[in-house]
Amino acid sequence: MKSQSTLVFSNELPPVKKLGEELLLIYDQILAQKSPVFKKWSQQIALKYAVQAGEHLKDIEHFPRHIKAITKLTEQTSVKKLTIVVVGGGSLGDFGGFVASILKRGVRLIHIPSTWLAAIDSAHGGKTALNVGGAKNQIGTFYPAEQILMVRSVLMSQPEARAYEGFGELVKIALIEGGKLWNSLAKERQVNSRVLWKHLEAAVKAKYKVVAKDPEEKKGIRHVLNLGHTVGHVLESYYELPHGIAINYGLDFALRFSVQKKIMKPTEAEKIYSEPIMGFLLSPLRDDMISIKSNDLNEYRRLLLSDKKKTKAATLRFVFVQKPGKTVIREVSVDDLLIEICRQREEELHG
Ligand SMILES: NC(=O)c1ccc[n+]([C@@H]2O[C@H](COP(=O)([O-])OP(=O)(O)OC[C@H]3O[C@@H](n4cnc5c(N)ncnc54)[C@H](O)[C@@H]3O)[C@@H](O)[C@H]2O)c1
Ligand SMILES: [Zn+2]
Repeated sequence: MKSQSTLVFSNELPPVKKLGEELLLIYDQILAQKSPVFKKWSQQIALKYAVQAGEHLKDIEHFPRHIKAITKLTEQTSVKKLTIVVVGGGSLGDFGGFVASILKRGVRLIHIPSTWLAAIDSAHGGKTALNVGGAKNQIGTFYPAEQILMVRSVLMSQPEARAYEGFGELVKIALIEGGKLWNSLAKERQVNSRVLWKHLEAAVKAKYKVVAKDPEEKKGIRHVLNLGHTVGHVLESYYELPHGIAINYGLDFALRFSVQKKIMKPTEAEKIYSEPIMGFLLSPLRDDMISIKSNDLNEYRRLLLSDKKKTKAATLRFVFVQKPGKTVIREVSVDDLLIEICRQREEELHG
């Protein structure tokens, strides 16, 4: 199976006839309200399936209803000619990608991400997923899209505030890649759609470099993409934060932990933290949350242990940073992580 999708960056949605012979459009219904351009474009496609985005879309309980409706919609189409075009954020991508991978034993797939998170991260790499019994991403397939179209007008239809949700993933991949991507992102003095669009192509290419070495996550190489996500996921669940925002905190945690473990030199950390972009990683939210509400370490422990990427009973493979472009993976115990969470909180409170 191909791990590399064809990437296309454009200002506007493509001519419909370029996408394939017979199309099924699976899209986030919000787009028809938020983007008149999308609405008009979608009217050219006969077979359409609109859904509401979010985790319930990925819930396996609802899947039988969706797949019955989609099977009925596509009953007159030929397997060979059918292409599913998914337009939406990460939940649509996970759901629509899964549908494409199993419908008639697999049909062509095109992603058009409509959120920054999806454009930078989730649309790439071929992972599809559904949730089972409230637990995220318990089943899924590896099914890279043939094409992924990054369309500026679709991404710009998002509210400006959502730029922060893509920002965490952008900083993550820039730290993993280092070099030009990190150096140019580090100098940015704003976080907004313009900045995200500017760095999007380099960020996506950096993700592909990692994915290409380990397309189906069999060698452990893809694990570096988990940078910032170990503690990020805990904060996401505990404080019910948007994923991207939680990752901002998770990255900050990982960088400080890297210094504490002597993987990163203090001078390197100083250099990173003096970059203009780093000012956006720490928001006022951080102090409110981590210093006031975080006495429930037992809950943190439970959340860390439920992370599916854990290795043995109480250890996790944690992604550290030595410097931009150089990550180091080490096993750490859950206790070690909890101690570090407390240490960083004290450092934050007392300097
Ligand atoms: N497959 C992967 O590799 C991978 C990686 C990371 C995250 N994910 C998954 O991605 C999901 C999170 O991604 P997300 O935040 O994009 O999710 P999402 O699809 O739920 O979108 C978030 C919100 O944005 C709205 N929205 C979408 N496009 C919009 C637009 N253009 N304008 C205004 N609003 C718009 C949606 O209706 C929704 O309310 C999670 O389910 C996560 O598990 C998957
Ligand atoms: Zn993420």
